Amino acid sequence: MINVAERFETKTVHIGHDPLQGVKSKTTPIYQTSVFAFEGLEEVEQYYVGEGEYLYTRNGNPNQAELAHAIAALEGAEAGVSAASGMGAIMAGLLAVLSPGDHVLASHEIYGGTYALLHKELSRFGIELGCIQLGQTTKLADHVRPTTRLFFVESITNPLLTVVDLPYWIKEAKRLGLTVMVDNTFATPYLVQPVSFGADLVVHSGTKYIGGHSDVTSGVLVGSQAIIKRATEIVVNYGASLSPFEAWLTSRGLKTLAVRMERQCDNASQIAAFLRDHPAVARVYYPSPTETFFFSRQKQGAMISFALADETKIYDFYRALDWIKLAPSLAGVETSVSHPVTTSHRAFSEEQRKETGITMGLVRLSVGIEAVQDIQIALDAALGK
Ligand SMILES: Cc1ncc(COP(=O)(O)O)c(C=O)c1O
Repeated sequence: MINVAERFETKTVHIGHDPLQGVKSKTTPIYQTSVFAFEGLEEVEQYYVGEGEYLYTRNGNPNQAELAHAIAALEGAEAGVSAASGMGAIMAGLLAVLSPGDHVLASHEIYGGTYALLHKELSRFGIELGCIQLGQTTKLADHVRPTTRLFFVESITNPLLTVVDLPYWIKEAKRLGLTVMVDNTFATPYLVQPVSFGADLVVHSGTKYIGGHSDVTSGVLVGSQAIIKRATEIVVNYGASLSPFEAWLTSRGLKTLAVRMERQCDNASQIAAFLRDHPAVARVYYPSPTETFFFSRQKQGAMISFALADETKIYDFYRALDWIKLAPSLAGVETSVSHPVTTSHRAFSEEQRKETGITMGLVRLSVGIEAVQDIQIALDAALGK
């Protein structure tokens, strides 16, 4: 305890707080501070010459760093930076690499928010977007322009859960001199580590499986030291820094990622089989073991999308779900459903929806850790009505 001035007003502010106390907490404390204190001007100077770690939470905080280091280590990347959301991390990655006049090549199946960022925002700064279908006959070289800088792809796409041959496409893009950025939100490093195939940047919405409990919004970008250094400046300058508490919650969620993924993926594969046999379901989108041949485990993820046989029943279906909530996010421990057309892929035009198969009758299911029999019973009841 610090011996401070006698007056009540001063005591209430300073009493009981000694940041230098050697408290050995077992887990990382929440550094819920907007700024860090210095012993003197010499120490401030040391920070600016790169010898001190923390100055101001927008510039860096131990909780942000803990999360970024952990994801970088799990992804096998040199460095990482956390951000206030998955979109913040994607923005930092894109802006770290792109300049006005540059062209981005992206898979035509990308998260609606990423599409909106590129199509609506970055286009205003002269950055162009080209979307291509990564099929067997597609040749990346046919779409590359002299100005193409970056190739963007999701390891498991949102919402149709397509898994492209990531090692092949990364190799192709690198051969053509492009920087490769992979959104690994749906697969997580538990299933695949794109850096091992040569990806330059890997991004996560920490809001999803990394956090895992639907109680946090966060993002992380990992990659080479050089790009992450620039991306960190962008996070700081654009004010997209992650709050200490959200960073702490995400790191806490991360500790159980492996056990959650194990259970959620196993539940999902059983639910996918059940849906395939259901008469009210026209089509199930769930990756096959052949598609996921490069994953580090024999699992296909925990997201399933399916199209109702009769899409006019879509409103009835969502209404009839019992304990499974309609919530436009995913990856929590609790099973939930969403409706891509009216939420995540709202930014897509009617034409794009038709082209990608994101139809009115499409349901996106995020399978949780509950007893698989209960998930099946709840879905069956809603589909039957
Ligand atoms: C694949 C994917 N990437 C990025 C994001 C954006 O993440 P956030 O909502 O944390 O900004 C989402 C959000 O749903 C997503 O599904």
